[in-house]
Parts: sequence; C-alpha cells; structure tokens
Amino acid sequence: MTDISRSNRKRYRASPMVRKYRGPSGLFPAETQILAALAPTIHKRPVLDLGVGTGRTAPDLATLSGDYLGLDYAPRMIQAARKAHPDLRFAPGDARNLAHLPAEHFALVLFSFNGLDYIDHTGRMRALAEIRRVLAPGGYFVFSSHNAAFTAPPPYARSRFVPSPNPLRTLVRLGHYLMGCLHYLRLRPALREGADWSLRVVGERNFSVVAYHIRPQSQVAELETAGFSTEALYAFTGEGVSPEKTESLPWIYYLARKPPRDGSRHPPDAAFRLR
Ligand SMILES: C[S@@+](CC[C@H](N)C(=O)[O-])C[C@H]1O[C@@H](n2cnc3c(N)ncnc32)[C@H](O)[C@@H]1O
Repeated sequence: MTDISRSNRKRYRASPMVRKYRGPSGLFPAETQILAALAPTIHKRPVLDLGVGTGRTAPDLATLSGDYLGLDYAPRMIQAARKAHPDLRFAPGDARNLAHLPAEHFALVLFSFNGLDYIDHTGRMRALAEIRRVLAPGGYFVFSSHNAAFTAPPPYARSRFVPSPNPLRTLVRLGHYLMGCLHYLRLRPALREGADWSLRVVGERNFSVVAYHIRPQSQVAELETAGFSTEALYAFTGEGVSPEKTESLPWIYYLARKPPRDGSRHPPDAAFRLR
C-alpha cells in the first residue's frame, strides 16, 4: 500500500512543486485577519513557520515577530526560501520530529496552506504533539485543513475535460485529464473514507498528492485530544464559521491554543470566540 507521507514528500521535494510555490506571495485573507488579531501577542516573540515552502508567509510573520524561523522538509523549498528572503532564518525540518527545537519556546506556530494534511494520521498526531511541545504555554497554533464535509468532483469527472476550438489544445487538455486519472488510479489503494477523516487525492500537481480531509467537529475533537483548545474557525475569506455549517468550504482555518500555565485566558481571545 502507498505510504502517503512518503509519496507526498517525494512530490514536494521535486522541482515542479518548488516552481509552483515560487508563484504566490503575501498572506491569504484569513491569515491576514488572524495574524492581525494575534499581533500584540506575538510582538518580538519567537514564531515558527512550519511547511514554509518558498517563504510566502515569511516576510509578514518576520515583521510581526522579529524572531522568525521557517522550516520545511523539502530541501529545495528551503533553498528557494533562502534565496527569496536572504535576511530571514530557514532550516530543514520535519513537523513530526522537532527534537532540535526547544520546548515551550514559540508564541505562534503556523502550518499554512494545508501543509499538515500531507502527513498520514499517525504522523499528524505526532506533529500535533511536537507543535504543542515547542509552543509556550498560552501559545497559538494556526493552520488550515481540507474539509471532509466538502465534496469536490473526482479526478475522472467528465466535467474536468473541456475541449477547445483549437485541436492541439484539446489534445493537451485530454493528456492532462488522462494523466490525472492515472495518478488517481495509482493512488487509489491509499485512499480512505472515514466518519471523521478521509484520505483523498487533491488537485495539487494534477491529482498526484493525497491529502488528509477532516470534518470540522472532528478536527476540534482531534485538537482537544492533542491538548489544544480551539478558539475559532475561519473560511479562506477570513469570515468566522461555525463547525456545523461548512459544506461549501473546501478548506478551513483553525485557531488553536495551548492552555496557559495558570489556565487563564488573556485579552486577544475575546476576538475569536468559537462560533
Ligand atoms: C501546500 S505547500 C505550502 C507552502 C507554503 N506554506 C505556502 O503557503 O506557500 C505545503 C508545504 O508543506 C511542506 N510539508 C509537508 N509536510 C511537511 C512536514 N511533515 N514537515 C515539514 N514540512 C512539510 C511541503 O514541503 C510544502 O512546502
């Protein structure tokens, strides 16, 4: 059976994926909103940008914190991030093993653009434990994750192939469509549909990547098991969402928190009540 963590890692280590992630820059709307609200909490305190890719989120986080570290398990991503942001600190590292980082150190850990979803269930729980360990008491964990309550058309859906008036373009599109179907067939033994979470192929590199999808209520429970409270959920647009009403959202942002040492809640929390 395909080990999804290994096959995804192979994809993220390859040049085409690095080229793809050199494209987007700047924060997504939900990230802008969450980080603006967290700004007073993370000012001048250490932040960890996990699965940083080529550094899309690096400049904004570094400006907010002044003590920035970006980590990725794909060496080419790290090389590209260093090239794009030579003044910032990046290092190779796997979210499932952060033993080289001190405990209770970071005010914020970000795992953006669904990076956590490219690890299998066991690895995901290990990553959550590691993130909790390196977060300072009361520290925040912000991430996004594919929503299992959202149904996307499968790779083989006929609607994915749209012929063009140009025969050559039609041929290229047909090749792309068939290649997506082949990737799906190859990965199908690794896919899973469960009540809480599923493993599904996603459009990334023409369906050659498998992503963990989870129902929002199950994600809240999973976070609780891992020792986090969930402060709020957001759509990509930054709008706050209720865990029960998310069928139209392909992915969801979660704002989670490691409990403070004294169990207290401090002011920024008021902005994020779980709806
Ligand atoms: C979808 S890309 C997002 C990249 C970047 N955060 C962005 O938003 O542009 C996911 C990134 O997570 C990284 N990644 C996936 N699993 C990881 C893990 N276990 N440890 C560290 N990085 C990981 C991949 O190499 C890839 O760069």
